[in-house]
Amino acid sequence: MEVVLAESAGFCFGVKRAVDTVYGQAGKKEGRIYTYGPIIHNEEVVHDLGQKGVQVINSPEELRHCKGGTVVIRSHGVGKEIYGLLEEEGIPYVDATCPFVLKIHRIVEKYSRQGFHVIIIGNGSHPEVEGIQGWSSTKATVISTEEEAKNFTLEREKKVCIVAQTTFNNKKFKELVEIIEKKGYDINVLNTICNATHKRQAEAQEIARKVDAMIVVGGKNSSNTQKLFEICKKECENTCYIQTLEDLDLSKLRSINSVGITAGASTPNKIIEEVQKNVRNEF
Ligand code: F3S
Repeated sequence: MEVVLAESAGFCFGVKRAVDTVYGQAGKKEGRIYTYGPIIHNEEVVHDLGQKGVQVINSPEELRHCKGGTVVIRSHGVGKEIYGLLEEEGIPYVDATCPFVLKIHRIVEKYSRQGFHVIIIGNGSHPEVEGIQGWSSTKATVISTEEEAKNFTLEREKKVCIVAQTTFNNKKFKELVEIIEKKGYDINVLNTICNATHKRQAEAQEIARKVDAMIVVGGKNSSNTQKLFEICKKECENTCYIQTLEDLDLSKLRSINSVGITAGASTPNKIIEEVQKNVRNEF
């Protein structure tokens, strides 16, 4: 039987890099390792790292007590003040901020210094957006809804720089930008949305179209895994949604010739590998 594993299954490049960084640091066994916020929204991974001595810290206050250890900054990135704090306190750190997020930090820093008012299209309570805000030299505006876009006002002479949270919906971003553009400001739009999610969905759809059965691996509460399942199910009736290998009913795959495997953004590679190996060994 042919087994097709989606290249984009599981962690995106930035998350994989951050998770590998923490495991790498934990493996060195040189002092305590801390992550600023959970490295990924996957309890199993955070728990596994906890067993290896990696501790999650959640606030600048807690950060001050991390002397003698190494802090890993996760893929979402942090504001400038956190770097300042780490340096002030002499705390060693490893920066695993996704390069695509770092790029937004540089844009925001540069444009705000040049007198542009920064607008971030994204979810204001998301750590990535909080971090981006922390790079603007003047207070940035966060916009996530049509109403907020309509209500946005500024002194006319000011120039505006618009960026996006990397995981924001592209269509919605364009709609919100259009509303702001109508206000007649001098606007510079930088679409900083990352296409990792789009790529994962497009690849899953393409594979599901060709195979006899499709396996989607991911947490039951993961909205991006649910979306992947829906996309695959539309193309391939014989699609199953599993959280781990234990949920996989191999008997359902008996009389078929090909099976595709994909996984949500927070599914660890270990689980994907296990599923793949078992399917390959069984047939
Ligand atoms: Fe992932 Fe970085 Fe894109 S964390 S979603 S590759 S911005």
